[in-house]
Amino acid sequence: QAPIKVGMLGMGTVGRGVYKILTGNADLITARAGRPVQIEKIVVRDTTKSRGVTVPDGVLTADAAAVLENPDIDIVVELMGGNEPAKEYILKALKAGKQVVTANKDLIAGYGKELFDAEKEHDTDLMFEASVAGGIPIIRPLKMCLAGNKVTDVMGIINGTTNYILTKMTRFGSDFNDVLKEAQALGYAESDPTADVEGHDAARKIAILASIAFNTRVTSRDVYVEGITRIDATDIKYATELGYIVKLLGIAKERDGEVEVRVHPVFIPGSHPLAAVSDANNAIFVAGDAVGETMFYGPGAGEMPTASAVVGDIMEVARNITGGVNGRISCTCFEEKPIKPIGL
Ligand code: NAP
Ligand code: HSE
Repeated sequence: QAPIKVGMLGMGTVGRGVYKILTGNADLITARAGRPVQIEKIVVRDTTKSRGVTVPDGVLTADAAAVLENPDIDIVVELMGGNEPAKEYILKALKAGKQVVTANKDLIAGYGKELFDAEKEHDTDLMFEASVAGGIPIIRPLKMCLAGNKVTDVMGIINGTTNYILTKMTRFGSDFNDVLKEAQALGYAESDPTADVEGHDAARKIAILASIAFNTRVTSRDVYVEGITRIDATDIKYATELGYIVKLLGIAKERDGEVEVRVHPVFIPGSHPLAAVSDANNAIFVAGDAVGETMFYGPGAGEMPTASAVVGDIMEVARNITGGVNGRISCTCFEEKPIKPIGL
């Protein structure tokens, strides 16, 4: 069978993982997608840089047109990060009728309307499972499996870097900056880790989750944000003495049609399930009127877990291509709900 062709934009931490899964699990992917899924081109800034995997000659390129203007490419996978040129490239790909998969929460949280409008206009798919909580399935469950619920609460640990830092500070008394360096080396942190430690990454994620859960439009600009840079050894010591653990939480609630969205450090009782979520793991509670309380737990950042979510999206659109259907499940049918101002 003719392969379904993938063009990747970026091959850093996550891109390398996607490459490993698509090549290493090629047989099962072919069986499940109905056709082989083949990486045709990968756009990077520096084609000479060592990538830790062997990429065939001619696949790496610094020319984005090799993906965006290539009629052979069916699926564009954006793993560059940041706002531009990622947004311009995604819009171009959607306009060209290509299916798009991204892990880019900055874009989905900041420019979701523009992107989902383009997805609808060009009758294609924009998938973003990896944009929240790394390898944990949460976007699809909220959009699909829990769609019959009136969701009232979404709350949890949604940044792996800060959870890693807080875990090490609590368990070993480690220095904030030393542990941040470790998190960067492990591939958990954003290219500018300020977004992680100041809470903006978690704000983007809770904005995405709240938008889907409450069927409204919440952007990162609507979220009250406080990060962990002011947490020091004394805070951790007092928390421990009192039987608490410090965690950075994203919290979203809908009450009487009004939405509240915030990110800040919280003292959690040591007996609470979130207190046991360590290292770069994430955990998200979702409460719905029919289902009750559910919890989603797993690796929230890093090469292979995040790539797992990206490849899940690639597989979904690949199956749709094989089946000749467009399976768009995007959030383009929002109601506008008021956002409650937060002053803590
Ligand atoms: P990364 O390691 O910094 O990799 C970025 C890649 O994009 C690199 O290959 C880089 O090329 C390429 N790139 C950047 N700007 C470019 C440009 N203007 N033109 C061409 N190529 C460009 O980033 P990452 O950690 O893989 O993250 C990728 C995306 O996934 C981000 O949106 C991030 O927020 C998201 N994400 C990451 C994680 C995680 O755990 N790391 C988890 C969930 C979501 P060079 O290699 O040549 O520099
Ligand atoms: N920098 C992010 C984190 C990557 O630490 O959670 C996963 O989105």
